[in-house]
Amino acid sequence: MGASEVDLTVYPDECDAFGHLNQASFLSLFERARWEVLAHGPGMDVFSRAGAWPAVRKTTIDYHLAALPGDVLRFHQALTHVGRTSFTMRQTARRRADDALIATAEFVFVCINREGRPIPVPTEIGSYFTPGQADDAIQRITVRGVSLAVETRGSGPAVLFIHGYPLDRTIWQHQVAHLEGFRRIAPDLRGMGRSDAPDLGYSMATYADDLAGLLEVLGEESVVLCGLSMGGYIAFEFLRRHPDRVRGLVLMDTKAEADPPEGRKARDAQLAMVRESGVAALADQMVPKLLAPGAAAGTVAQLRAMILATPVPGLAGALSAMRDRADSRVLLPELARIPVLVVSGEADAVIPVSVAEALAEAIPGAHLEIIGGAGHLPPMEQPEATTAALQRFLNP
Ligand code: MLT
Repeated sequence: MGASEVDLTVYPDECDAFGHLNQASFLSLFERARWEVLAHGPGMDVFSRAGAWPAVRKTTIDYHLAALPGDVLRFHQALTHVGRTSFTMRQTARRRADDALIATAEFVFVCINREGRPIPVPTEIGSYFTPGQADDAIQRITVRGVSLAVETRGSGPAVLFIHGYPLDRTIWQHQVAHLEGFRRIAPDLRGMGRSDAPDLGYSMATYADDLAGLLEVLGEESVVLCGLSMGGYIAFEFLRRHPDRVRGLVLMDTKAEADPPEGRKARDAQLAMVRESGVAALADQMVPKLLAPGAAAGTVAQLRAMILATPVPGLAGALSAMRDRADSRVLLPELARIPVLVVSGEADAVIPVSVAEALAEAIPGAHLEIIGGAGHLPPMEQPEATTAALQRFLNP
């Protein structure tokens, strides 16, 4: 159990007539977990020592599964934003027995003094919950009512990285750290990573408009889009809706075709499996398919943790968005107007190299790069080679 984790048992007196943990009790358990973690770390009096009281300004909770008397819930606490006087804490409650995600909550606090005026967040809070990770490059930006976690680094023409399913922006870790000469922007899409996960409203158009809204906030008129797999499907939708904002395009381990009828059924079957057996079953099914044989143990562990952290509403939303996406083949001839790079892992078992070859063939003037030793996720599996391929394309 990590330093920011605490186990709490569900008692019958916290449950409703159906024997489910009551939503008001959830609030108390989230609060208890926060105090327990402080008690084991900087001390429960960390706020009073600094004369700064944390007042809750906003609470958002997603309930995923019922919790029953006797269940032991593991609460995980992480700071997702620390401002001058406010901070945001994301908490998850998982059933310890099988790691099933029970609830996800986000609390926004403002530190106030005895007169009720905002005052700085005690420094011990930031350093305890995010040891060694205070990083100004990761911000929370609210776009169209949803708070997105976004990493931005460097300066120059902007490149927008769009991750796939069920992943997050950290698949682009190496490219965002090392692609010199560009402003690298990597958001967690709504419903994935550390972004908010609303229950409803997911579609390719929603993701594309979120990204356009994000670019507006960041003051970027136009970008090179770099989308992996589902990120490529979103890039196509972005091109349909915001064509003037795209200066160049990287299509990585993706395809232009819509789902065939059997593929659409498979999306629904996968969602039913997640609802019945939990996100761990999805991770068991997907991790071996996504990586090339012999992937490094660290990459396997990073990918598994990423999938396990994806909230169920985000998974459901992405599955329905992919199931209902339009066929984008009609767009391909028009892409002659911008530079396009098609990339594929040589051992991609999800979208094989032959699909990438046909895609590059259908786009006039497109370049094709095959990344040796990679499966469906070249930026994670062969990070240096993938960054080098992007650098060659962007700085010919
Ligand atoms: C992805 O990596 O985004 C998905 O595997 C794409 C898909 O399932 O079509």
